[in-house]
Amino acid sequence: MKSFKPLVFSGVQPTGNLHLGNYLGAIKRWVELQRHYNCLYCVVDMHALTVNPDPAELMRHTREMAAAFIASGIDPQKHIIFNQSRVHQHAELAWVFNCVARIGWMNRMTQFKDKAGKDREKASLGLFAYPSLMAADILLYRATHVPVGDDQKQHIELTRDIAQKFNMDYSARIAELGCGVDMQAGDNTVSGFFPMTEPLISDTSMRIMSLRDGSKKMSKSDPSSMSRINMVDTAEDIAKKIRKARTDSDPLPEQADGLQGRPEADNLVGIYAALTGKSKQDVLAEFGGQQFSQFKPALEDLLIATLSPISAEYRRLNADTAYIDRVLHDGAKRASPIAEATMKHVRDIVGFPRG
Ligand code: TRP
Repeated sequence: MKSFKPLVFSGVQPTGNLHLGNYLGAIKRWVELQRHYNCLYCVVDMHALTVNPDPAELMRHTREMAAAFIASGIDPQKHIIFNQSRVHQHAELAWVFNCVARIGWMNRMTQFKDKAGKDREKASLGLFAYPSLMAADILLYRATHVPVGDDQKQHIELTRDIAQKFNMDYSARIAELGCGVDMQAGDNTVSGFFPMTEPLISDTSMRIMSLRDGSKKMSKSDPSSMSRINMVDTAEDIAKKIRKARTDSDPLPEQADGLQGRPEADNLVGIYAALTGKSKQDVLAEFGGQQFSQFKPALEDLLIATLSPISAEYRRLNADTAYIDRVLHDGAKRASPIAEATMKHVRDIVGFPRG
């Protein structure tokens, strides 16, 4: 019996101005997963085109994101780091999926509703079809596991819906061509061409909030640079930002539920927890009852110890465009045959003549 090989795929948009939220929210997890899985990590520049039409900026941000992956410890030799637009099969499969997915499914996507704003008629078709391209990213490699944040869960469910409808619509053809793979569906074994991809959503909440306002997400577009720790920050920058980070005047609670209603305290404890891989409760077992004047220096030391080597390497790699381009080029060269093998089957399945 054939079955799908475990494979991790994830993607992130090249946004620029990378900060602690990008690192703790996604990249750190990706670094850990490479010990247990074969991984493909993709800078989704085609997705970024839905929001960033500036060519020079798009290119620069794409390289910066790849540099951040490598600086954070993803090994581009053992795993595959590449940018989406270099592997044209992503666009090709997305088209097939546009013909599988239903408009009604897309209309339910909360991210589209948020991003399209009030005047939906003016939103680009690309923004609307975004989840179909995302499904193509994942299923092109028949990836079994996708680490994502909570906000992407709906897109992963849609990816499964697309896979399932494709498998059903073409089940006779898939059987005729003998390219189905067995998989477990509840108590039954079913055969299909695409796997039912599982999201890997980390249990610890990784939403990193602004250092100036614990109710807002840490964001590249916040006008105050004191609100975020940037990937390029020096030890002095980090120290200053943590010292100035907003807090309340109470000591830290002994129990995690004592963080409720104290967003700034919750955020700082959360950052400490995320960096050490501990739970907030564990952090409070150590620091509960202490004042921020005692906790902040510990957080500062931890941040500097963790981020300094990463940001030094990040700055060095950003200056070495030729190397980053080589990594992305090489990654695409290794991703392409996997993508093409899938597309050969897909073209056969849907009835596009070969040769
Ligand atoms: N939509 C994802 C985000 O905004 C990025 C993304 C694109 C992605 N393709 C993907 C994530 C495939 C996981 C797998 O974060």
